[in-house]
Amino acid sequence: MLNQLEELASKAFDELGKVTNLEELEAWRIRYLGKKSDLIQTLRSLATLSLKERRVVGARANEVKKALETSLAEKKKGLEQGLALSLQRESLDVTLPGESVLLGHLHLTTQTLDEICSIFGGMGFQVVEGPEVEWEYYNFEALNMPADHPARDMFATLWMDSDTKTGDRPMLLRTHTSPVQIRVMEKSRPPIRVIAPGRVYRYEATDATHEWMFYQVEGLAVDKNITLADLKGTLFEFTRCLFGEERKVRFRCDYFPFVEPGVEVAIDCLACGGTGCRLCGNSGWIEILGAGMVHPEVLRRVDIDPEVYSGFAFGMGVERIPMLRYGIDDIRLFYGNDLRFLKQF
Ligand code: DAH
Repeated sequence: MLNQLEELASKAFDELGKVTNLEELEAWRIRYLGKKSDLIQTLRSLATLSLKERRVVGARANEVKKALETSLAEKKKGLEQGLALSLQRESLDVTLPGESVLLGHLHLTTQTLDEICSIFGGMGFQVVEGPEVEWEYYNFEALNMPADHPARDMFATLWMDSDTKTGDRPMLLRTHTSPVQIRVMEKSRPPIRVIAPGRVYRYEATDATHEWMFYQVEGLAVDKNITLADLKGTLFEFTRCLFGEERKVRFRCDYFPFVEPGVEVAIDCLACGGTGCRLCGNSGWIEILGAGMVHPEVLRRVDIDPEVYSGFAFGMGVERIPMLRYGIDDIRLFYGNDLRFLKQF
Protein backbone atom coordinates (compact mmCIF):
# COMPACT_ATOMS: atom_id res chain seq x y z
CA MET A 1 0.00 0.00 0.00
CA LEU A 2 2.86 2.36 0.78
CA ASN A 3 4.37 1.65 -2.63
CA GLN A 4 1.06 2.47 -4.28
CA LEU A 5 0.98 5.74 -2.37
CA GLU A 6 4.48 6.71 -3.52
CA GLU A 7 3.65 5.90 -7.14
CA LEU A 8 0.49 7.93 -6.90
CA ALA A 9 2.37 10.89 -5.44
CA SER A 10 5.06 10.91 -8.11
CA LYS A 11 2.47 10.60 -10.90
CA ALA A 12 0.47 13.45 -9.39
CA PHE A 13 3.50 15.76 -9.16
CA ASP A 14 4.52 14.81 -12.65
CA GLU A 15 1.15 15.75 -14.11
CA LEU A 16 0.91 18.92 -12.07
CA GLY A 17 4.11 20.07 -13.73
CA LYS A 18 2.40 19.81 -17.11
CA VAL A 19 -0.69 21.82 -16.15
CA THR A 20 -0.78 25.14 -18.05
CA ASN A 21 -4.12 26.71 -17.15
CA LEU A 22 -6.75 26.91 -14.44
CA GLU A 23 -9.12 24.48 -16.12
CA GLU A 24 -6.50 21.78 -16.34
CA LEU A 25 -5.61 22.49 -12.73
CA GLU A 26 -9.19 21.90 -11.58
CA ALA A 27 -9.28 18.60 -13.49
CA TRP A 28 -6.04 17.65 -11.80
CA ARG A 29 -7.47 18.52 -8.37
CA ILE A 30 -10.50 16.33 -8.94
CA ARG A 31 -8.31 13.50 -10.17
CA TYR A 32 -5.90 13.52 -7.25
CA LEU A 33 -7.65 15.23 -4.35
CA GLY A 34 -11.34 14.84 -5.20
CA LYS A 35 -13.66 12.71 -3.12
CA LYS A 36 -13.37 9.80 -5.54
CA SER A 37 -9.63 10.08 -5.99
CA ASP A 38 -7.35 7.14 -5.11
CA LEU A 39 -5.72 9.11 -2.34
CA ILE A 40 -8.94 10.01 -0.55
CA GLN A 41 -10.23 6.50 -1.04
CA THR A 42 -7.01 5.23 0.57
CA LEU A 43 -7.50 7.53 3.55
CA ARG A 44 -11.08 6.31 3.90
CA SER A 45 -10.07 2.69 3.86
CA LEU A 46 -7.58 3.15 6.70
CA ALA A 47 -10.21 1.86 9.15
CA THR A 48 -9.95 -1.61 7.65
CA LEU A 49 -6.22 -1.82 8.40
CA SER A 50 -4.51 -3.05 11.52
CA LEU A 51 -3.52 -0.41 14.03
CA LYS A 52 0.16 -0.70 13.12
CA GLU A 53 -0.43 -0.45 9.41
CA ARG A 54 -2.92 2.32 9.90
CA ARG A 55 -0.34 4.45 11.65
CA VAL A 56 2.33 4.10 8.95
CA VAL A 57 0.07 4.31 5.90
CA GLY A 58 -2.15 6.96 7.46
CA ALA A 59 0.78 9.22 8.31
CA ARG A 60 2.26 8.90 4.79
CA ALA A 61 -1.12 9.38 3.10
CA ASN A 62 -1.68 12.55 5.09
CA GLU A 63 1.79 13.81 4.18
CA VAL A 64 1.15 13.14 0.51
CA LYS A 65 -2.23 14.86 0.74
CA LYS A 66 -0.70 17.94 2.38
CA ALA A 67 2.12 18.08 -0.14
CA LEU A 68 -0.33 17.83 -3.05
CA GLU A 69 -2.55 20.51 -1.53
CA THR A 70 0.39 22.87 -1.03
CA SER A 71 1.58 22.31 -4.57
CA LEU A 72 -1.95 22.87 -5.85
CA ALA A 73 -2.21 26.17 -4.03
CA GLU A 74 1.17 27.32 -5.33
CA LYS A 75 0.38 26.32 -8.87
CA LYS A 76 -2.96 28.08 -8.68
CA LYS A 77 -1.34 31.26 -7.46
CA GLY A 78 1.22 31.09 -10.24
CA LEU A 79 -1.38 30.58 -12.94
CA GLU A 80 -3.60 33.36 -11.62
CA GLN A 81 -0.70 35.77 -11.53
CA GLY A 82 0.19 34.87 -15.11
CA LEU A 83 -3.40 35.42 -16.16
CA ALA A 84 -3.61 38.76 -14.40
CA LEU A 85 -0.37 39.79 -16.04
CA SER A 86 -1.49 38.89 -19.52
CA LEU A 87 -4.86 40.57 -18.91
CA GLN A 88 -3.03 43.67 -17.87
CA ARG A 89 -0.77 43.49 -20.87
CA GLU A 90 -3.64 42.99 -23.28
CA SER A 91 -5.90 45.52 -21.65
CA LEU A 92 -7.60 47.98 -23.96
CA ASP A 93 -8.48 51.52 -23.05
CA VAL A 94 -11.70 52.05 -24.95
CA THR A 95 -11.73 55.72 -24.00
CA LEU A 96 -8.57 56.49 -26.01
CA PRO A 97 -9.30 58.55 -29.13
CA GLY A 98 -9.23 56.47 -32.30
CA GLU A 99 -6.49 56.65 -34.87
CA SER A 100 -7.82 58.70 -37.74
CA VAL A 101 -7.45 57.20 -41.19
CA LEU A 102 -5.93 59.64 -43.66
CA LEU A 103 -8.38 60.33 -46.46
CA GLY A 104 -6.91 61.24 -49.81
CA HIS A 105 -8.53 63.30 -52.52
CA LEU A 106 -8.17 63.86 -56.24
CA HIS A 107 -5.05 65.62 -57.46
CA LEU A 108 -5.51 69.25 -58.42
CA THR A 109 -4.81 68.39 -62.06
CA THR A 110 -7.41 65.62 -62.02
CA GLN A 111 -9.95 67.97 -60.47
CA THR A 112 -9.27 70.50 -63.24
CA LEU A 113 -9.49 67.83 -65.95
CA ASP A 114 -12.80 66.65 -64.53
CA GLU A 115 -14.12 70.18 -64.60
CA ILE A 116 -13.00 70.79 -68.20
CA CYS A 117 -14.46 67.47 -69.35
CA SER A 118 -17.74 68.18 -67.64
CA ILE A 119 -18.09 71.63 -69.27
CA PHE A 120 -17.45 70.21 -72.74
CA GLY A 121 -19.51 67.14 -71.91
CA GLY A 122 -22.42 69.50 -71.36
CA MET A 123 -21.91 70.82 -74.89
CA GLY A 124 -22.03 67.34 -76.38
CA PHE A 125 -18.30 66.58 -76.63
CA GLN A 126 -17.20 63.00 -76.07
CA VAL A 127 -14.01 62.22 -74.11
CA VAL A 128 -11.40 60.17 -76.00
CA GLU A 129 -7.80 59.21 -75.33
CA GLY A 130 -4.69 58.52 -77.37
CA PRO A 131 -1.28 56.98 -76.70
CA GLU A 132 1.52 58.92 -75.00
CA VAL A 133 4.18 57.10 -77.01
CA GLU A 134 3.27 58.20 -80.49
CA TRP A 135 4.39 57.84 -84.08
CA GLU A 136 6.14 60.83 -85.57
CA TYR A 137 3.48 60.59 -88.24
CA TYR A 138 0.60 61.49 -85.92
CA ASN A 139 2.50 64.02 -83.84
CA PHE A 140 3.88 65.98 -86.81
CA GLU A 141 3.43 64.65 -90.32
CA ALA A 142 -0.33 64.25 -90.40
CA LEU A 143 -0.70 67.60 -88.64
CA ASN A 144 0.82 69.35 -91.62
CA MET A 145 4.36 69.42 -90.26
CA PRO A 146 6.49 67.39 -92.68
CA ALA A 147 10.09 66.49 -91.90
CA ASP A 148 11.89 69.79 -92.19
CA HIS A 149 9.00 72.01 -91.23
CA PRO A 150 10.23 74.89 -89.06
CA ALA A 151 7.18 74.59 -86.80
CA ARG A 152 8.65 71.39 -85.40
CA ASP A 153 10.99 73.70 -83.48
CA MET A 154 8.00 74.82 -81.41
CA PHE A 155 8.05 71.36 -79.88
CA ALA A 156 11.23 70.27 -78.12
CA THR A 157 10.79 66.57 -78.71
CA LEU A 158 11.75 63.49 -76.69
CA TRP A 159 12.47 60.80 -79.28
CA MET A 160 12.35 57.11 -78.52
CA ASP A 161 15.55 55.07 -78.93
CA SER A 162 16.01 53.72 -82.42
CA ASP A 163 15.50 50.11 -81.29
CA THR A 164 11.86 50.96 -80.63
CA LYS A 165 11.38 52.12 -84.20
CA THR A 166 9.45 49.90 -86.46
CA GLY A 167 11.29 49.95 -89.74
CA ASP A 168 12.05 53.57 -90.41
CA ARG A 169 9.01 54.94 -88.61
CA PRO A 170 10.33 56.94 -85.65
CA MET A 171 8.46 57.17 -82.36
CA LEU A 172 8.39 59.91 -79.75
CA LEU A 173 6.67 61.01 -76.57
CA ARG A 174 3.81 63.09 -77.91
CA THR A 175 4.54 66.79 -77.57
CA HIS A 176 0.86 67.72 -77.64
CA THR A 177 -2.57 66.09 -77.67
CA SER A 178 -3.24 67.18 -81.27
CA PRO A 179 -2.28 63.73 -82.72
CA VAL A 180 -5.47 62.37 -81.12
CA GLN A 181 -7.37 64.51 -83.66
CA ILE A 182 -5.88 62.44 -86.48
CA ARG A 183 -6.56 59.15 -84.71
CA VAL A 184 -10.21 60.10 -84.18
CA MET A 185 -10.72 61.29 -87.76
CA GLU A 186 -9.08 58.14 -89.16
CA LYS A 187 -11.57 55.98 -87.29
CA SER A 188 -14.81 57.94 -87.47
CA ARG A 189 -16.70 60.13 -89.86
CA PRO A 190 -18.36 63.51 -89.15
CA PRO A 191 -20.22 64.68 -87.21
CA ILE A 192 -17.32 64.53 -84.74
CA ARG A 193 -17.22 66.29 -81.41
CA VAL A 194 -14.48 65.09 -79.06
CA ILE A 195 -12.10 66.27 -76.39
CA ALA A 196 -8.89 64.42 -75.60
CA PRO A 197 -7.25 65.01 -72.22
CA GLY A 198 -3.83 63.58 -71.46
CA ARG A 199 -0.15 63.89 -70.67
CA VAL A 200 2.31 65.47 -73.07
CA TYR A 201 6.11 65.67 -72.94
CA ARG A 202 8.71 68.26 -73.89
CA TYR A 203 12.48 68.02 -73.90
CA GLU A 204 12.93 71.06 -71.73
CA ALA A 205 14.79 72.22 -68.66
CA THR A 206 12.28 72.68 -65.84
CA ASP A 207 11.67 75.99 -64.17
CA ALA A 208 8.74 77.79 -62.56
CA THR A 209 6.75 77.80 -65.82
CA HIS A 210 8.12 74.72 -67.61
CA GLU A 211 7.76 71.02 -66.87
CA TRP A 212 8.97 68.18 -69.07
CA MET A 213 5.59 66.52 -68.54
CA PHE A 214 2.27 68.31 -68.29
CA TYR A 215 -1.35 67.91 -69.31
CA GLN A 216 -3.29 69.21 -72.25
CA VAL A 217 -6.87 68.97 -73.39
CA GLU A 218 -7.48 68.86 -77.11
CA GLY A 219 -10.82 69.59 -78.74
CA LEU A 220 -12.13 68.79 -82.19
CA ALA A 221 -15.45 69.35 -83.95
CA VAL A 222 -15.99 68.40 -87.58
CA ASP A 223 -19.24 68.61 -89.49
CA LYS A 224 -20.88 70.37 -92.39
CA ASN A 225 -21.07 74.16 -92.03
CA ILE A 226 -18.82 74.53 -89.01
CA THR A 227 -17.44 78.05 -88.96
CA LEU A 228 -15.16 80.24 -86.92
CA ALA A 229 -18.28 81.54 -85.21
CA ASP A 230 -18.88 78.05 -83.77
CA LEU A 231 -15.31 77.99 -82.49
CA LYS A 232 -15.71 81.41 -80.90
CA GLY A 233 -19.06 80.57 -79.36
CA THR A 234 -17.83 77.29 -77.92
CA LEU A 235 -14.63 78.67 -76.43
CA PHE A 236 -16.33 81.82 -75.20
CA GLU A 237 -18.82 79.69 -73.31
CA PHE A 238 -16.08 77.43 -71.99
CA THR A 239 -13.82 80.21 -70.67
CA ARG A 240 -16.70 81.87 -68.90
CA CYS A 241 -17.83 78.61 -67.33
CA LEU A 242 -14.34 78.06 -66.06
CA PHE A 243 -13.22 81.54 -65.09
CA GLY A 244 -16.52 83.30 -64.40
CA GLU A 245 -19.22 85.22 -66.27
CA GLU A 246 -17.44 88.52 -65.85
CA ARG A 247 -14.34 87.46 -67.84
CA LYS A 248 -13.56 89.15 -71.12
CA VAL A 249 -12.36 86.83 -73.88
CA ARG A 250 -10.02 87.91 -76.67
CA PHE A 251 -9.46 86.10 -79.96
CA ARG A 252 -6.39 87.03 -82.01
CA CYS A 253 -4.65 85.62 -85.05
CA ASP A 254 -1.94 83.08 -84.38
CA TYR A 255 -0.14 80.44 -86.37
CA PHE A 256 -0.32 76.66 -85.97
CA PRO A 257 0.43 74.49 -89.02
CA PHE A 258 -2.66 72.29 -88.56
CA VAL A 259 -5.25 75.09 -88.56
CA GLU A 260 -6.15 77.92 -90.90
CA PRO A 261 -6.91 80.47 -89.68
CA GLY A 262 -5.27 79.91 -86.31
CA VAL A 263 -6.18 81.88 -83.22
CA GLU A 264 -4.94 82.45 -79.75
CA VAL A 265 -7.51 82.87 -76.99
CA ALA A 266 -6.86 85.05 -73.98
CA ILE A 267 -8.88 86.22 -71.00
CA ASP A 268 -8.53 89.50 -69.19
CA CYS A 269 -6.08 89.13 -66.31
CA LEU A 270 -7.61 87.63 -63.18
CA ALA A 271 -5.18 89.50 -60.96
CA CYS A 272 -5.48 93.06 -62.27
CA GLY A 273 -8.65 92.88 -64.35
CA GLY A 274 -6.84 94.18 -67.41
CA THR A 275 -4.90 97.16 -66.14
CA GLY A 276 -1.58 95.29 -66.26
CA CYS A 277 0.43 93.50 -63.59
CA ARG A 278 3.24 91.00 -63.08
CA LEU A 279 0.98 87.98 -63.73
CA CYS A 280 -0.04 89.17 -67.21
CA GLY A 281 3.31 90.74 -68.05
CA ASN A 282 1.63 94.16 -68.03
CA SER A 283 -0.48 93.28 -71.05
CA GLY A 284 -3.75 92.89 -69.18
CA TRP A 285 -4.38 89.59 -71.01
CA ILE A 286 -3.56 85.97 -70.28
CA GLU A 287 -3.34 83.42 -73.08
CA ILE A 288 -5.04 80.16 -72.28
CA LEU A 289 -5.67 78.39 -75.57
CA GLY A 290 -4.52 77.78 -79.12
CA ALA A 291 -7.23 77.07 -81.66
CA GLY A 292 -8.33 77.40 -85.25
CA MET A 293 -10.21 75.94 -88.19
CA VAL A 294 -8.87 72.49 -89.11
CA HIS A 295 -6.50 72.88 -92.08
CA PRO A 296 -7.95 71.44 -95.33
CA GLU A 297 -4.70 69.52 -95.78
CA VAL A 298 -5.27 67.77 -92.44
CA LEU A 299 -8.84 66.82 -93.40
CA ARG A 300 -7.74 65.54 -96.79
CA ARG A 301 -5.14 63.27 -95.25
CA VAL A 302 -7.81 61.45 -93.23
CA ASP A 303 -10.11 61.25 -96.22
CA ILE A 304 -12.58 63.87 -95.13
CA ASP A 305 -13.49 66.13 -98.04
CA PRO A 306 -12.70 69.75 -97.08
CA GLU A 307 -15.12 70.94 -99.76
CA VAL A 308 -17.96 69.29 -97.83
CA TYR A 309 -16.81 69.36 -94.22
CA SER A 310 -15.09 71.84 -92.00
CA GLY A 311 -14.06 71.77 -88.39
CA PHE A 312 -12.46 73.61 -85.53
CA ALA A 313 -9.80 72.44 -83.10
CA PHE A 314 -8.31 73.78 -79.91
CA GLY A 315 -5.69 72.79 -77.38
CA MET A 316 -4.92 74.06 -73.91
CA GLY A 317 -2.48 73.48 -71.08
CA VAL A 318 -4.24 72.20 -67.98
CA GLU A 319 -1.95 73.21 -65.08
CA ARG A 320 -2.05 76.83 -66.17
CA ILE A 321 -5.72 77.02 -65.22
CA PRO A 322 -5.37 76.31 -61.47
CA MET A 323 -2.11 78.29 -61.48
CA LEU A 324 -4.06 81.35 -62.58
CA ARG A 325 -6.99 80.63 -60.34
CA TYR A 326 -5.11 80.03 -57.13
CA GLY A 327 -2.00 82.09 -57.79
CA ILE A 328 0.32 79.06 -57.89
CA ASP A 329 3.63 80.46 -59.07
CA ASP A 330 5.56 77.28 -59.82
CA ILE A 331 4.36 74.44 -62.08
CA ARG A 332 6.91 72.07 -60.51
CA LEU A 333 4.74 71.97 -57.37
CA PHE A 334 2.14 69.88 -59.25
CA TYR A 335 4.27 66.77 -59.59
CA GLY A 336 6.73 67.30 -56.72
CA ASN A 337 4.50 65.12 -54.49
CA ASP A 338 4.73 67.48 -51.55
CA LEU A 339 1.58 66.84 -49.52
CA ARG A 340 1.77 70.28 -47.93
CA PHE A 341 1.02 71.67 -51.38
CA LEU A 342 -1.39 69.00 -52.63
CA LYS A 343 -3.50 68.99 -49.46
CA GLN A 344 -4.53 72.59 -50.01
CA PHE A 345 -6.75 71.78 -52.97
N1 DAH B 1 -1.05 71.64 -80.02
C1 DAH B 1 -0.78 73.02 -79.76
C2 DAH B 1 0.35 73.15 -78.75
O1 DAH B 1 0.64 72.21 -78.05
C3 DAH B 1 -2.02 73.71 -79.23
C4 DAH B 1 -3.08 73.83 -80.27
C5 DAH B 1 -3.16 74.97 -81.07
C6 DAH B 1 -3.99 72.82 -80.48
C7 DAH B 1 -4.14 75.13 -82.01
C8 DAH B 1 -4.98 72.95 -81.46
C9 DAH B 1 -5.03 74.12 -82.22
O2 DAH B 1 -5.89 72.01 -81.68
O3 DAH B 1 -6.02 74.24 -83.14
O4 DAH B 1 0.94 74.17 -78.66
